Amino acid sequence: MCGIVGYVGTGKAVDAVVEGLRSLEYRGYDSAGCAWRDGSAIKVVKTKGRVADLEGALPAGVNSTEAIGHTRWATHGAPLDCNAHPHFSFDNRIVLVHNGIIDNYIELRKELIAGGISKDAFLSDTDSEVIAHLIASVYKGDVLAAVEEIIPRLDGAYALAVMAAEEAGKIIAVRKGSPLAIGIGKDEVILGSDAVPILPHTNKVIFLNDNQVAICTAQGVTLRQDGVEVHMDITEITWSPEAAQKGGYKHFMLKEIFEQPQVMNELVRQKIELSKEIDMAPIFHLEDLGIPDEYFNEVSRIVLVAQGTAYNAGMIGRNLIERTARIPSYAEYAADFYYRDPILDPSVLVIAITQSGETMDTLHAVRSARANNCKVISIVNTVGSTIARESDGVFYMRCGPEIGVASTKAFTAMIASLYILALKMAQVRQTLECSDLVRRTQDLKQVGPRVEAVLSTANYIKQIAIKYKDANNFLFLGRGTGWPLAMEGALKLKEVSYIHAEGYDAAEMKHGPIALIDENMPCLFIALKGKKYDKVISNIQEVKARGGKVIAIASHNDNSIADMVDDVIYIRAESGVMNSIVCSVPLQILAYYIAEARGCDVDKPKNLAKSVTVE
Ligand code: G6P
Repeated sequence: MCGIVGYVGTGKAVDAVVEGLRSLEYRGYDSAGCAWRDGSAIKVVKTKGRVADLEGALPAGVNSTEAIGHTRWATHGAPLDCNAHPHFSFDNRIVLVHNGIIDNYIELRKELIAGGISKDAFLSDTDSEVIAHLIASVYKGDVLAAVEEIIPRLDGAYALAVMAAEEAGKIIAVRKGSPLAIGIGKDEVILGSDAVPILPHTNKVIFLNDNQVAICTAQGVTLRQDGVEVHMDITEITWSPEAAQKGGYKHFMLKEIFEQPQVMNELVRQKIELSKEIDMAPIFHLEDLGIPDEYFNEVSRIVLVAQGTAYNAGMIGRNLIERTARIPSYAEYAADFYYRDPILDPSVLVIAITQSGETMDTLHAVRSARANNCKVISIVNTVGSTIARESDGVFYMRCGPEIGVASTKAFTAMIASLYILALKMAQVRQTLECSDLVRRTQDLKQVGPRVEAVLSTANYIKQIAIKYKDANNFLFLGRGTGWPLAMEGALKLKEVSYIHAEGYDAAEMKHGPIALIDENMPCLFIALKGKKYDKVISNIQEVKARGGKVIAIASHNDNSIADMVDDVIYIRAESGVMNSIVCSVPLQILAYYIAEARGCDVDKPKNLAKSVTVE
């Protein structure tokens, strides 16, 4: 979704902004623009297309020390030059960039026209431009005062960075609903929709709260709320700027797939003190949760809310929690949960799962759960994100920045995090024997090496990918936890390769998908050894009997499956949770190499956004 960058300081502002926009490209966008101070005027260049197109359109060697920039993901108005940000006010005194949606923009536009602003002053179809005109309509030489005056009039979500031609050296930033972070460097302040564009400058970051207004100058930041100065919470980010670079890989997606062993090892290291003795309980380090242990004995039901890949992780989490902590659990799309007005009471624990911590639907679900007096724990990657801050407790996955739009390492980190949380609850509720708990935590330590083993077969999986790259459709099938994995496999493939793919519970196959099966429909089966193995094998036979092509992900010691199917990817995983995590990896690698073989823009698939900050 839209990305905002701003810079005020002693360095080259336009260069810093363009660099920042490039680092936000992963959020998804269709146009880009930049505004900078040029003496007592402000210049704007904007264009549809990529940040590289913007760079080409910018004059060389601009020496400005104050600039704002934007990557736009179209909502109101097509991706055209005129709809790209920044937007000027009718009198060119105000310029701004906006992320979010202003619900009452038509009403405000009518009001501005009735108040004397010419219809011709509206140069775009966007809701954002209306804000620039609105600020200018009350501006009397103090941009802070003008912004504070108009924000109560805006319905909807916004993160804004505003400059005024007459007030050099100052950027006003404000947010409600959409994310905005501010980095405080030495003689420079950098704004970003997240911390990624800030990190090359500083790791000291303020995450604005809703309704906070920041006055940014080269000397630092002043924060205000409801018209008065307020205290600033400065977070120190531990990600290195290099973590957000490709590090020799062709794509971020590939790099992030290969980071998974390290992510798994780190998660286990940080969150669990493993016991060596089978009768000595492990210690869970979940201090961020901030929820007393006893609470887990009072929970009557858990609802896991999320969107996209995080929802698929939630489906797996549901199984893991029920099996270990024995609490009835349900996974729901956050948007459906929120709009359905579900029946809740304080004994219901809501677990929000989100890589970015900014997904608007998930945020709404969190707010509505808390308004219903439920406790909310969020499983989040991005430190300081809105959902992390608005939850009662946080489980930080800390898997480093995920830049590829298609989520990979965050997905497996979500599964591992949900499992660790489930084990913690099981310990408190005494639903697992101590020895079982010890064994399960020790198993978790093996996940990193098992993932590593799958990665070593990447070239073999690539050959399979090349074989199936021209398919128009794909079915992914599995039972039990294999079902959400099938959904995730299908989601990954369609996201990056644009092949139509569906993920189904294999038990549903006979209720519809079987009608589609012929020699042109590859079916990928999750066929690991376990309780449902025989049933899955029956489903495979049914597909083969109808001429279908089958790829199976199978257990390393399955000696018979190769004779039944066209291609097999073997994995080694002994426990339930290990199955889910390790099995995710070949699905990711397959999707990646199919997309690469089809020449797709793997890290920036068309129409998709990394972080969906609008409804
Ligand atoms: C978008 C992204 C997905 C992601 C989903 C939820 O659709 O493209 O990769 O899974 O949002 O994002 P979240 O940040 O809440 O995990």
